[in-house]
Amino acid sequence: MSFQTPHAVLPSTTHDEAARQDFVKSMRQHVTMSLTPGNEVVYRRAVLPAFARRHGRSPKDRREVRAAMLREPYHQAWSAMMRTTQEMIWDSIETSVDRQRATLNARAAQLVGKHGTLTLDPDLVPPRYVTAVDIHCMPGNYTTDPGPGDVTAGALYDRGVYLYMMGGMGGTNQSCGDMLIGYIRKSFPDLAPQRILDMGCAVGHSTLPYAEAFPAAEIHGIDVGAPMLRYAHARAEAMGKRVHFSQQNAERTNFATGSFDLVVSHIALHETSAKAVHAIMRESRRLLRPGGIALHLEVPPFAGKDPFDQYLTDWDTHYNAEPFIGTLHDLDMRAVIAGAGFSPRETILDLVPLVIYVADPGKDGNYAHHVGGHFCVAGGRRSS
Ligand SMILES: C[S@@+](CC[C@H](N)C(=O)[O-])C[C@H]1O[C@@H](n2cnc3c(N)ncnc32)[C@H](O)[C@@H]1O
Repeated sequence: MSFQTPHAVLPSTTHDEAARQDFVKSMRQHVTMSLTPGNEVVYRRAVLPAFARRHGRSPKDRREVRAAMLREPYHQAWSAMMRTTQEMIWDSIETSVDRQRATLNARAAQLVGKHGTLTLDPDLVPPRYVTAVDIHCMPGNYTTDPGPGDVTAGALYDRGVYLYMMGGMGGTNQSCGDMLIGYIRKSFPDLAPQRILDMGCAVGHSTLPYAEAFPAAEIHGIDVGAPMLRYAHARAEAMGKRVHFSQQNAERTNFATGSFDLVVSHIALHETSAKAVHAIMRESRRLLRPGGIALHLEVPPFAGKDPFDQYLTDWDTHYNAEPFIGTLHDLDMRAVIAGAGFSPRETILDLVPLVIYVADPGKDGNYAHHVGGHFCVAGGRRSS
C-alpha cells in the first residue's frame, strides 16, 4: 500500500473522515486478501465435487461456476461484504468531497491554463454505456455535472481509485501509465512520440506519466465527462504538467487523420460496449501516422484461466456495476483489430507485467513491486 500524493485539488480529510476512509480501506483489504481465498476452498472441496456428482463432469465455463457458487452461504456472505465495502468506500469519500465542494471548485477555477489547456464541449452527449449505470457504484458516475466549474466527479474518482486499489496503483494512481510506458520502452525502443493521445483519460492518472516519460511530446487526453476533465486539468496544472484535455468521444474525435504517433487507453475499454470497442479501435488507427502505435491496456484476460478464476474475475460484471467486463473478454480482439484495418503483421496482442506499489517504510515514499500477473494490451502499429 502506498501513500496518496497530495496536490491542490485532492480532497483533504478531517480526523473523522480519515478514520472512516482508513477503516473502509482496511476492510476491503481484509475482504480481498483474507476472505477471497476461502471461495476457492469452498469451490474445490464442496461445489466442484457436488457438480461432478450431479453432471458427471466439471463446470465448462464461468457461468456454470457462478450458478453453483451462488448457492453457497460462504460465497453469499463474501459477495455481500465485497459489495457493501464498495458502497462504503464511496460513502466515506462523498461526505468529505461534499463538505469541500466549493473550495475544490474554487481552487480548480484558479488552476487554469498555465501549462496545458482544457476544452469542453457542452453539446457532447455521453454514450449510454457511460450514463446507464453508476459504474463501479461511483455515485453520479463520470458525467453528472451539477454546474459550471464543478469538479466533484473527478475528486470522488481520484480518492476512490486510491482507496479501492488500497494504494496499490501508486501515490498518484499512476500504475497503468507506468505499465504501458514500460511495455513501450521494452517492445518499441525506437518510438519517440511527438504527439500522444490518451483516450478515456478520466482525471489523468495514466496521462501524466507520459508527460514525464516523453517530455518533448505534445500530450492530449480526452474523456466524455466534463467534471472529470476539469479536475484532470486542475490536477495537471497543480503538478506542473503540460497536457491538453478535451471533451470528446473516443469513438469519433475531431483530431485530423494521422495526427498522433501514439494513441493509448488504460482500463477504459471495459467500460464501453462491443460496438464502441470496434469504433475506438478504428478511430485509433485513423489517428496514427505511419509508424505510429495504438495500445489499449486492459484488465487481466480470462483466456488460459480455469473457469473458477474466470468467474471470480467476472464477479464485478454482475455485482460491481461493471456490466461490460465479461463481454469484453469474450470478444475476439484479433478480429476487432483486423476490423479496424490493421494487418496481421501490424497487430499487437500481448501481456503487460502487472505493477503494484507499496510504501517504502521510513522514507514516506513508494516503490514499484512486480507481484506476478499481467494486464493485456491490444492494438496495432501502422506501417503506412
Ligand atoms: C476507468 S476510467 C479510465 C481510467 C483512466 N484511463 C486511468 O488510467 O486512470 C474510464 C473513463 O473512460 C471514459 N470513457 C468511457 N467511454 C468513453 C468514450 N467513448 N470516449 C471517451 N471517454 C470515455 C469515462 O468517462 C471514464 O472517465
